Amino acid sequence: MNFDTIIKGGTVVTASDTFQADIGILGETIACIGINLKSDAPCQEIDASGKIVIPGGIDVHVHLQLPFCGTVSSDDFLTGTKAAARGGVTTVIDFAIQDAEKGLMAGIEARMQEADPKVCVDYALHSIITNWNEAIKREMTEVIKFGIPTFKMFMIYEKEGWQSDDAALFSALEATAKNGARICVHAESEKVMSHLIAKYLPEKEKHGAYAHVLSRPNYIEAEAVQRVIKWAEVTGGRLYIVHLSTGEAAHLVWEAQQMGIDVQAETCPQYLLLDDEVFKDPDRGHLFATCPQIKKQEDSERLWEALTAGELTIVATDTCTFDTKQKAMWDGDFTKIPFGMPGVETLLPSVYTAGVLEERFSLNHFVSLISANPAKLMGLYPQKGALAVGSDADVVIIDPQKKKEVDWQELATNCDWSPFQGMELAGFAETTLSRGKVVVKDGAFVGNQGHGKFVKRQAWGEV
Ligand code: URP
Ligand code: ZN
Ligand code: ZN
Repeated sequence: MNFDTIIKGGTVVTASDTFQADIGILGETIACIGINLKSDAPCQEIDASGKIVIPGGIDVHVHLQLPFCGTVSSDDFLTGTKAAARGGVTTVIDFAIQDAEKGLMAGIEARMQEADPKVCVDYALHSIITNWNEAIKREMTEVIKFGIPTFKMFMIYEKEGWQSDDAALFSALEATAKNGARICVHAESEKVMSHLIAKYLPEKEKHGAYAHVLSRPNYIEAEAVQRVIKWAEVTGGRLYIVHLSTGEAAHLVWEAQQMGIDVQAETCPQYLLLDDEVFKDPDRGHLFATCPQIKKQEDSERLWEALTAGELTIVATDTCTFDTKQKAMWDGDFTKIPFGMPGVETLLPSVYTAGVLEERFSLNHFVSLISANPAKLMGLYPQKGALAVGSDADVVIIDPQKKKEVDWQELATNCDWSPFQGMELAGFAETTLSRGKVVVKDGAFVGNQGHGKFVKRQAWGEV
């Protein structure tokens, strides 16, 4: 056989198996997996002995160059996908927002024009619905056929014009029972949150960034999750809760799954590795403001348990990078902090280190959470999320024990701080291949702007 590249002598780890093998790549796909592979024609060989070889990570929740909170998130499609590659993430899923006056496809076309010239790894889009009506319901079918089977709806962000009310959520979920789509929901209770924000605003100097914690207690998320799960139950729709942050909500998801309701959920490294003590730092506390808010240690423990038990199926990052200058816009007022943080580059290392090295779950389970499950749940499997003949050659090589201290100065993300600064993490990509092309070598980015492609995804069932 002929190969362009052979990855030799590594320990291949998939969601289900671990074995010694070589991987032969021809063009953009995996052509063969076997022992002692040789190519008839000259080919590049990558020595992976002593290393683990996994399918590329898939971060299903990023916001690159997002206009938000009076500024634009500082990682654009170029720096954000460079950071992804360096972190071993070979596919990101961003969002295309509906202009309330227009249809969904207009938002998708506009977003693709922003992404296509810049992306260094593959990307897909969720379609954000901001103005639900009968025409949008019909247009969903067109969007699904185009290759976007997931639609995002927000239960908050009223003033941004992004919020969907209960009737819209109900109706959209109802539609998914027939059209094969899935609704991704940001579940927080806007009205009560606004009430609490108004309550703590007069005391903003006293509490500083910690006012975020006070105005977003766990029930803000739990109530909204409970409500939207009810709509999924009665409509028979497909539901996916994004950036789930509380133990209570994890419990609700588990309960719903026991009842046979089609609800899946992701959590993020910031909810797993950090807790709300970070907001007490008078100088840096505001940097950690994100939405939903980082919760307590006991929430993290419950989230890890839920990931281990398979109740939460994906770890994604909700990357929405704002640097210290952007974060300084808060000027002491917790309602003015741009919400979000960098994350795509540290996704694999954070989950690998705290999940596998700290013996919460196996290496195979790690691959499920960051690659196979995202691919399966987002309609990308087995093109992505698998090391199998015919799958895209999105492959990551990791030194299983090599730790390094996270330092924002060494990261590719366009940000001058990291939420995980100073943590000792293993699991950074030594080599990353995106559709057969080496984009990270010896930990350094060697790829090209524009190499990434928009990936069409499959819906569930007949469209
Ligand atoms: O704080 C965050 N998460 N910013 C991005 C918008 C969202 O809610 O996901
Ligand atoms: Zn959100
Ligand atoms: Zn988000």
